[in-house]
Amino acid sequence: MIALTRRQALLATAAAAAAAAAPLVPARAFAAETPARLDLRLASTTVPLARPDLPAEVLTYGGTIPGRVLRLRQNVPCEIVVENGLDAPTTVHCHGLRLPNAEDGVPHLTQVPIAPGGRHVYRFTPRDAGTFWYHPHLDAARQLGSGLAGALVVEEAVPVAADRDLLWMLQDWRLDGRGRIDPSFGVPMDRAHAGRWGNLVTVAGAADLAEPVKAGERVRLRLVNAASARIFDLGLDGGTAWLMALDGMPLAEPRPFGPSLVLSPGERADLFVDVTGPVTLTDAMEGERRPLARLVPGGRTAGLAGSGTPTPLPANPVPVPDLAAASRHRFVFSGGAMGTMDGAVVDGAYLGWRDMARRGLFWAVNGAVPMIGEGDHPGAPLVTLARGESTVFRLENRTRWPHPIHLHGHSFHVVRRNDQAVAAPPVKDTVLLWPDESAEVAFVADNPGDWMFHCHVLDHQEAGMMGYVRVA
Ligand code: C2O
Ligand code: CU
Repeated sequence: MIALTRRQALLATAAAAAAAAAPLVPARAFAAETPARLDLRLASTTVPLARPDLPAEVLTYGGTIPGRVLRLRQNVPCEIVVENGLDAPTTVHCHGLRLPNAEDGVPHLTQVPIAPGGRHVYRFTPRDAGTFWYHPHLDAARQLGSGLAGALVVEEAVPVAADRDLLWMLQDWRLDGRGRIDPSFGVPMDRAHAGRWGNLVTVAGAADLAEPVKAGERVRLRLVNAASARIFDLGLDGGTAWLMALDGMPLAEPRPFGPSLVLSPGERADLFVDVTGPVTLTDAMEGERRPLARLVPGGRTAGLAGSGTPTPLPANPVPVPDLAAASRHRFVFSGGAMGTMDGAVVDGAYLGWRDMARRGLFWAVNGAVPMIGEGDHPGAPLVTLARGESTVFRLENRTRWPHPIHLHGHSFHVVRRNDQAVAAPPVKDTVLLWPDESAEVAFVADNPGDWMFHCHVLDHQEAGMMGYVRVA
């Protein structure tokens, strides 16, 4: 990994700010697009990510980093038209949306991959309002790590009071000494450890984002971690903030923000920030707290800031599981460097650790690699649930590495962590497990189909930590 020097970082800042000027979405974008037909043209292009003189080749949705914010409206049908201008097949997965299985964007399991030059239309009606995102589900470590990610905002049927609505997508880039994307995707070192952490973080496409706002505003700040592997420990300097929603799902009661918020790959958080002066978003995951992006007030307005604790966002219609009657399933995650796993069942036969490593496999779920490849060879489901069944998944991390575990097609209540009941269980689609941690997540299996269940560290996903759950 190449650490950027202070000077390089400054250059990166200027370059990325210039590069980001185009992709920024109008800040006051409240109205969803009508008709809700959204075109995503995938293209590769070059942007000066770290060095103005040495553009990096990136993959984009529509030519910008990140892809533009797709704004949909709750309960209003939409179409997302994808045209694949890449020289590789892809799919588009709408992360966190509870949509019909055929629209889930998982290669082979739910659709034929979109060939180069091909086109695919996703059609669904979003049931939940909130902050979601879209990304490829094929060759994901490479495609997402090369830039493919964008946010998807589903606006509440009844507008929510805020003076400004901002989307900050966090992306993590591993660049080489020439400011280009390091092409070494999927190397054993990353697969067996914490995944591909980068050396340049961008927020809304900029390495030092300064977002103009006005003092007196209450800003709805939507944060999305679209990194391949990086976990953030986010803090806010300045302003007064509340945590309003996690993974697109409103908290029953807004919580004063702080002192920090851990956001792992795939997770989202909606904040309300009352701007009283400059506000800086910081990250302390690597020790020293460093700035990521800023809200810069220019002028003052009579907005909602200072109007007190916000009312909760309207709840989404997520069914509440019946814990007393729920079926229970246990998933033990093992493997990785410095672990105790000797081997696992791969394709029906036990393979020792070294033989697994030779095949690029380093992780297992309940002693087996549930899925080889990316859906082209799905194997049996990890578990089959009856439609309408309440269920509790007990997740145990028996590795030395953190894993954000994600389920498609459903949102779950995080009811226990490390064997302690969670007060006011948040509703999520991704839950981070630190080494030796456990969590119990409960949900109603009300969405029929085959749903991916995997670690959102993409190197782990591709190296054994991916399977699927069938709702029949
Ligand atoms: Cu964010 Cu299986 O995906
Ligand atoms: Cu993992």
